[in-house]
Amino acid sequence: MSKINPSASLAEKLVRWQLTHGRHELPWQKTHDAYRIWLSEIMLQQTQVVTVVDYYARFLARFPTVADLARAHLDEVLALWAGLGYYSRARNLHACAQTVVADFGGEFPRTPELLQTLKGIGASTAAAIAVFAYAYPAPILDGNVKRILSRVHGIADAPNAQTDKILWQKARETLIVPTDAARLNIPFADALRAYTQGVMDLGASLCRKNQPDCGACPWQGDCVAFKTECVHAIPAAKVRTAVKTLAFGWYIYRYQNQVWVEQQPAQGIWAKLWVFPQAARIASASNVQKLPLIKHRLTHRALEIQPHLITLDEPLEISQQGQWLNFSDTEHLSLALPKPATQLLRSLGQRQTGLFSSKN
Ligand code: ADE
Repeated sequence: MSKINPSASLAEKLVRWQLTHGRHELPWQKTHDAYRIWLSEIMLQQTQVVTVVDYYARFLARFPTVADLARAHLDEVLALWAGLGYYSRARNLHACAQTVVADFGGEFPRTPELLQTLKGIGASTAAAIAVFAYAYPAPILDGNVKRILSRVHGIADAPNAQTDKILWQKARETLIVPTDAARLNIPFADALRAYTQGVMDLGASLCRKNQPDCGACPWQGDCVAFKTECVHAIPAAKVRTAVKTLAFGWYIYRYQNQVWVEQQPAQGIWAKLWVFPQAARIASASNVQKLPLIKHRLTHRALEIQPHLITLDEPLEISQQGQWLNFSDTEHLSLALPKPATQLLRSLGQRQTGLFSSKN
């Protein structure tokens, strides 16, 4: 690492580090187009970069502009999103595209305040879009940045509304200002983007939750947690509310490489996604196999799903509201299914069904 001037501002140190050690080749760094920036930020909200890259390319190939996305059917958006999880993001994405077209003439607004009025865009995402698309100075504060700033400033309390307020204040104070950019000899817009990317890069590469690499950190000399040897203890674990368990069955009607799926209502878990019926739809005493119990964790729910496989000799109409889904290519299903359903189809496709019958 180049020699750090200890009296330089946090922002200046971070930008110097970002320019030599940060990421510069991510697909969304090659553009300032607000639509592309926005899409990347929404995808990256709860998903890692390595996973997002392929989805991002596929999405842009299918929807090159916000108008293309706004015109699309929600089912197609959900199907392209399948596997990224947190499907409310896809529903909000679609709604947001429609608002941008209907209310903003197809151009994303330029300030964090206006961006935040759009579905799916919170304060930190709004700031990231404003910075990367428009070089509008605004601090970001996502989960990674909270961890970094908590450590640097020694905020040891478990995250709560009060620590959030303090962290936003710290984020505003730490944000790069034009005099820093002048010392760095680069245009303010470039410095601002490098700063914002820099806090993201620091969180991803050095100031990790576990096994942080403090030795390489440009903020080591300023870091209260490092100096007091409590990096690992910050931030303290969040006080968790009890998670409710929800138990239900799946009735998987299979005919060759097809299964019967029904669309969930617009409200509730897996809204608008396609899943197997949760109750028997037709009387079928023969060819029923109980499959191993599936345990699946959602943010606020622990699911316990008991699947039953019913193998049919002909493709009967199982119910009025469903359809047959071909699952021979589980990577690219034509409908969006929740993760445990896709995983189950994958194992059905891979195994002879007879393998399931030995236990249970
Ligand atoms: N996470 C959120 N936004 C990101 C970005 N622009 N680059 C890398 N990771 C991110």
